[in-house]
Parts: sequence; structure tokens; C-alpha cells
Amino acid sequence: MKKLLWSLTLFGVILILPFMESKNDVHSKAKPKPTMVGLTLIKNARLRSAVCLDGSPGGYHIHRGSGSGAKNWLVHLEGGEWCSDVESCVYSKRTRYGSSKHMEKQIPFTGILSDKASENPDFYNWNRVKIRYCDGGSFMGDNENKDAKLQFRGKRIWNSIMTDLLWDGMEHANQALLSGCSAGGLAAILLCHDFKNTHYSNSTKRVKCLSDAGFFVDAVDVSGGRSLRKLYTDVIEFQTIANQLPDDCLERLNPTSCFFAQNLINKVIPPLFILNAAYDSWQIQESLTSKSADPSGSWSDCSFNIAKCNASQIKFFQGFRTRMVNLLGAFKEQRKNGVFLNSCFSHCQTESQDTWYSKNSPAIKNKRIAVAVGDWFFERGGAKLIDCPYPCDKTCRNLI
Ligand SMILES: *[C@@H]1O[C@H](CO)[C@@H](O)[C@H](O)[C@H]1NC(C)=O
Ligand SMILES: *[C@@H]1O[C@H](CO)[C@@H](O)[C@H](O)[C@H]1NC(C)=O
Repeated sequence: MKKLLWSLTLFGVILILPFMESKNDVHSKAKPKPTMVGLTLIKNARLRSAVCLDGSPGGYHIHRGSGSGAKNWLVHLEGGEWCSDVESCVYSKRTRYGSSKHMEKQIPFTGILSDKASENPDFYNWNRVKIRYCDGGSFMGDNENKDAKLQFRGKRIWNSIMTDLLWDGMEHANQALLSGCSAGGLAAILLCHDFKNTHYSNSTKRVKCLSDAGFFVDAVDVSGGRSLRKLYTDVIEFQTIANQLPDDCLERLNPTSCFFAQNLINKVIPPLFILNAAYDSWQIQESLTSKSADPSGSWSDCSFNIAKCNASQIKFFQGFRTRMVNLLGAFKEQRKNGVFLNSCFSHCQTESQDTWYSKNSPAIKNKRIAVAVGDWFFERGGAKLIDCPYPCDKTCRNLI
């Protein structure tokens, strides 16, 4: 049950974003309507085993580029939940995170996926693809559990969609960016090497990767335990994904450690951008102060409303931020990389227009997220931005 709750709440967090946007709409006048983009199911998915947890075809949404962006490709990996046992994975089959039968037939393309220059200055006219997440294992699995009628085929979904996109013109890409949010942000790190090496020839000028809210930290929770580590161990074991993780990490560390971004980022060869809130609201609520870490619920007021935290609770969160900053130290020194670590309580900032690029969107040193990512991608200028600690940042779109 504990694990089921983990995934349920992650589902909840992600649902908050569209709600917040619509609330803000009331105050801003005449925002352009987002372009709706239809769902494409993978062709011959069953033959290729490119299927969701329930065996239904994996899918993606594609909006074509034009003009100067016609030969550039953005591939974005959706986030969602990890499932770690029969109960949580079978539950997912009844949702869009485990079955394409439950996916929206079309979705709005906003933020980094927007086709409007005023909303997405650098990538609006690229070919933009959003890959749906329905495998419960950050696109890493390639196995099945026959007894429970579960398919763990994230890797097949990824490979099949990439193959189809290459046929569909991506082969001739000039520039390409792999991005993703949350569980998809972790996948963008895990798959970055594959994205560049397997799928592009050396005629593609720039291939880079962006992880949004994928920097889940192997940290001590309020009980002194490591609940996220425990979840990762269970996911990897239940879905048998250990042998799918990057070889160069498995040579050094155990599989659970190789599911943590902190142990991967310094070895990723293509340029990588880490975008994260230093007080990631998912990690605070679902790992640092989760039900298992805080059974009496003494942290729940604070972890859902920062104004209700006492001094020692704030100090605990500051310790978490300091750890995150330290873990990015060597990564930040590499010229090719980018960092945007803002002192906000949020989770996923690329897909929502309000956080990606709007008048009041989050900024560090006056640089908004879309601008920082663009500066890094096109090598226009420095993009290594680490905020001062809470509560100095007044530009946040906090979720707690
Ligand atoms: C791409 O790389 C291959 C092998 O490394 C090399 O043979 C080929 O000439 C390169 N092509 C271009 C266009 O640089
Ligand atoms: C802050 O709150 C926590 C959790 O309720 C409690 O254990 C701790 O004693 C409090 N600290 C102070 C300084 O009030």
C-alpha cells in the first residue's frame, strides 16, 4: 500500500500544474490558445513489444517544424510514476501511466513544446515530439511478468519511436535536443548517450540533453532512512531493469545507485542541462517527509505549506539544498553543461507556460528558464545559474 501511495501522489502533483495555469489565466489577458496535438500510437506495437504496462501500444505526439526549424528536433519524455510491485503496476494499468487506452487523444503543446515564438523563443519552429510515459520504469525496462499480465517495455517504446522518427525525417536533423520531466527527466539523462550515438550521424551539428526535475537525490529523509533508495531498489528488481542501466555506471556502482542522476551526470558525454528546483516539491513530499518517513504526520503541514515550517524544518530543507548544490559541483565545472537550480518549491518547469517563459516566470539573475536553456543550447553565453537559498527568490511558482 505504501508503494501504491508513492505513485498515486506523484500522479497528483503532476495534475496540479494545468490547474494552476488556468487559475493564473484569469489574471493575464488574452493568452493565445495552445495548439492541440493528436496522439500517434506506435505502428505494429505488439509485434515490436513497444507496449505500455497493460500491453496496449505506446504513443507520442508530434508537431512539425517549419522555416529555420524544419530540420531541428526536440524529443521530450513525459513524466509520471514508477511502479515497484504487482499492486502498484496493476493499478497503473487503469491510468494513462500504464495504458494508452487511458491517454488523452490530444494534448496542448505549451512551454518548451509551444509553437509560438512569444512562448518558446528558441524551439517554437522545431519539430517537437512528446513521448508518452506508460512503462512505470523511466523507459528502462525490457521484460514482462506473465503471471501479473504486466509488460515492462520502456526501452522498446523508446527505440521504436526513435526508429520511426528517423524514417520520418529526423535522420537529417541539423540539431536535436532530448528533454524530459520528472521520471522522464531522469530518463533524459539515462538515454542521453543512446540519443546521440545510436540515432544520429555525425552530420547532426548539435545533440544535447535537458533534464527537468529529474535530479532526484539519494538523501536521508526525516526519519534518517532512505525511502527513495528503497523505492528505486524495488522498481529495478521488480521490472528487472538492472542490466539496462548505463554500463559505465554499472562498472562502478550497484544498479540502485545507477538510477540516481547524481551518479550519472558527470559521465554523460553529450552536453547536459540540469534544471531543478532546489526544494523539489515531489521529493520533499514523497520522499523526505513521505508517510513511511513521517508516520505520525508531524511534517505534513510544513511539507504542504512552507509558511507552516518551523526553524528546524527549514534548516532540514536547507541541508537538502546544500547537498544538491554540492552534487552539482563537478558537473558545473564542465564547460559543455548547463545548470538552473532555483530556490523554489516546485516540480517540472519546462512544460508549463508559466514556468518556462512568461512575463512573471521564475528567473535567476533576471534570466528566465527558456532563455537559460536557449543560451546553453546555442552557446550564446553562460548558463550556470544557482540561486541563493530560500527565501530570497521572489519569482517562484511554488507548489507548496
Ligand atoms: C562520420 O563518422 C564516421 C566514422 O566515425 C566517418 O567515417 C565519417 O567520415 C564521418 N562523416 C562525416 C560527415 O564527418
Ligand atoms: C519543529 O517541528 C518538528 C515536527 O513537528 C518538531 O519535531 C520539532 O521539535 C520542531 N522544532 C522546533 C524548534 O520547534
